[in-house]
Amino acid sequence: MRSITVDLGERSYPIHIGSGLLQGIGGRCIEAGFPQRSPLLVVTDSEVAPRYLAQVEASLRESGYTVVSHIIPAGEASKSLAVYEEVVTSAIQGGLDRSSAVLALGGGVVGDLAGFVAATYMRGTQFMQIPTTILAHDSSVGGKVAVNHPLAKNMLGAFYQPSMVLYDLDTLATLPPRQVSSGLAEAVKHGLILDREFAYWCREHAAELLALNPEALGYALERGCSIKSAVIGNDEREQGQRAILNLGHTIGHAIEAVGGYGVFLHGEAIAIGMAGAALLAAKLGRDRAIYEDTVSMLTALSLPVRLPAEYSEDELMEAMMHDKKFKEGRMTFIVPDAIGRVSIVSDVQQSDVRSVIAQLKKEDSPW
Ligand code: NAD
Ligand code: GLY
Repeated sequence: MRSITVDLGERSYPIHIGSGLLQGIGGRCIEAGFPQRSPLLVVTDSEVAPRYLAQVEASLRESGYTVVSHIIPAGEASKSLAVYEEVVTSAIQGGLDRSSAVLALGGGVVGDLAGFVAATYMRGTQFMQIPTTILAHDSSVGGKVAVNHPLAKNMLGAFYQPSMVLYDLDTLATLPPRQVSSGLAEAVKHGLILDREFAYWCREHAAELLALNPEALGYALERGCSIKSAVIGNDEREQGQRAILNLGHTIGHAIEAVGGYGVFLHGEAIAIGMAGAALLAAKLGRDRAIYEDTVSMLTALSLPVRLPAEYSEDELMEAMMHDKKFKEGRMTFIVPDAIGRVSIVSDVQQSDVRSVIAQLKKEDSPW
């Protein structure tokens, strides 16, 4: 097992990454300081529950906990206020009190939703992230928790750190291939923003990563978690530098909102968004090789880099206006300066974004 610390003073917490960790989850809850006299709420989804819930519940009960479980329908559509209310209802009916903890067993959807329940239930209970997707190496770290509004993604949320992240890599073996690629988009993103060598490593080892080779995957996820932890440690609440983690998000979130949540998977939408950010970089005078390399890294991992023609430019622009990164009439983009280095550019012209979107819909190379 490897452990990384997210260094946030009194809100610091460990990320444990390894094999066979679910079996010992009861002991980890004791280590995290969750009292046995207060019920625990496990939130999971309809794909994860049949595979992993029974063993989690058994370990928790063996360690003396009372367990209440709530299973949400799998998929992005569950990150909604309606499902949030259903989870809270289970928490109330199950007798959760202020000393209880919420356990998020699943991917980023479960993590974001259950984290938002933890942040708000009785004004805040403890929680643990138990990621079961590759993508969740990103979403489980850093304390951003939220649900979506039909008009815009992650509109209702909080910064609320877990007490622990317990990442059992064995669970990744049951992920469908499209989810594997989607999750690897976030690993490439971590390389593109801060670690040039890692970004090219992901391209070179794409076949092993897609085949879930344990050594390659373990290395990529540990590297991704470390990069994210370092960024969070310096800027927990996105006052500045944390925004670099949003590479690809301005266009990516608009694609998710316009297409309907779940049409493109989150990592796929971010991949198209990262291709868009690299096109914007070229428009702003950066080296065109950044775009070529970004696209080759993403396509090596079977990720999309083009937008289907039916996506309306007007609707995408409108969705971007609702994004949290749109402030005081100006659009902020994370723009690559080189592979492994990005800038936060906060005065991007809407006309440039519009032409990037038009270009993303074309099949041919932009030059
Ligand atoms: P997800 O939670 O929907 O999981 C993807 C699919 O895989 C689901 O159908 C799920 O049921 C299934 N699944 C999960 N684990 C499985 C397993 N081990 N075996 C088989 N199937 C499994 O999606 P995701 O890609 O993990 O996360 C995407 C979400 O994360 C988005 O809502 C995105 O906004 C959010 N996100 C949040 C942050 C953050 O910092 N909070 C960062 C990045 C992404
Ligand atoms: N995914 C962006 C962040 O965690 O800040």
